[in-house]
Amino acid sequence: MLDVEAIRKDFPILDQIVNDEPLIYLDNAATTQKPLAVMEAINHYYEHDNANVHRGVHTLAERATASYEAARETIAKFINAGSTKEVLFTRGTTTSLNWVARYAEEILTEGDQVLISVMEHHSNIIPWQEACRKTGAELVYVYLKDGALDMDDLRSKLIDKVKFVSLAHASNVLGVVNPIKEITQLVHQVGAIMVVDGAQSTPHMKIDVQDLDVDFFAFSGHKMAGPTGIGVLYGKEKYLEQMSPVEFGGEMIDFVYEQTASWKELPWKFEAGTPNMAGAIGLAAAVDYLENIGMDAIETHEQELIAYVYPKLQAIEGLTIYGSQDLAQRSGVIAFNLGDLHPHDLATALDYEGVAVRAGHHCAQPLLQYLDVPATARASFYIYNTKADCDKLVDALQKTKEFFNGTF
Ligand SMILES: Cc1ncc(COP(=O)(O)O)c(C=O)c1O
Repeated sequence: MLDVEAIRKDFPILDQIVNDEPLIYLDNAATTQKPLAVMEAINHYYEHDNANVHRGVHTLAERATASYEAARETIAKFINAGSTKEVLFTRGTTTSLNWVARYAEEILTEGDQVLISVMEHHSNIIPWQEACRKTGAELVYVYLKDGALDMDDLRSKLIDKVKFVSLAHASNVLGVVNPIKEITQLVHQVGAIMVVDGAQSTPHMKIDVQDLDVDFFAFSGHKMAGPTGIGVLYGKEKYLEQMSPVEFGGEMIDFVYEQTASWKELPWKFEAGTPNMAGAIGLAAAVDYLENIGMDAIETHEQELIAYVYPKLQAIEGLTIYGSQDLAQRSGVIAFNLGDLHPHDLATALDYEGVAVRAGHHCAQPLLQYLDVPATARASFYIYNTKADCDKLVDALQKTKEFFNGTF
């Protein structure tokens, strides 16, 4: 059990009135709020240790370097990477997936296939569209069954031509969690490389990249109580060794001659330019904060919230919920529509009640085309949300329905 009241005290932003109502923040899939511990870690860094890393020999530069590399160590342990060589700091999931797709461009040729699913976020679609466009490879989609990934479709499409498979661990719209460990075994049987978009799973459950055996795993700091502008690309050392750097410049070189240059060893060969030191340190503080609560406890808490709110939402006549009805497959994301009310109007009406939800295509237009809906509203939960927040959401939906004369 989480001590949610104590947790909420760590997030001062939650304690405010919005439109004369206490704020109920249910837009966590877009970005989460930050605890004091993260803000303090960033402040501490700027107040005491700030200097450029790796280059300086003075005391502050050494402290900044030590803190930055300690952050990498913290994150490596958090996801159980084999070593810190396998943890690259990036700007976030989008950058991480772009880097892997660049690597794919070095490998793919005409006739090869890349397999993704129709539930992917644009950041796990467009980099692959580009890689396929440049190499002549084909982008193939796995579709859905009962609101979840169709495993039979996946199996039938896993053929020798497939060189990369890139899938969301948890969908930011359907809320379903894909069985990545099982899928990775299938992917490796055809000799393909398994890439995972962990943007919506890493904040909410224990991630063990070695147990999952994935080849690449991407996530963002800002969706897991950390700062914006920092994320991670985990890659197996054997692939990162082969992979060319995506950006070139200072910090990533070993030696530069007039016409050529050599790279530093892993992980630094990928980190060109002055890195986001404060971001990495803030992310490590977020990891410490989450681990102190316990990733298993966080997952259980969110499952309890979903189990509590889902039937209440189902009971609202005219409310359509997207994704699998099997709650065991779901994380704390629920996308819905209320009758034919535009989701933007719905989100605005909920905001009048102090309830912050997202509305739109959630950067998953192919999924919405597949579901044949232009947009949805989406509530998403985190460690500081309570059953009372769920009740407020349901209540606000009822009020919205009444306001529009229950005409759905
Ligand atoms: C499933 C999924 N993948 C990727 C991203 C992109 O993350 P970022 O914008 O932090 O790069 C998001 C963000 O919403 C997401 O939900």
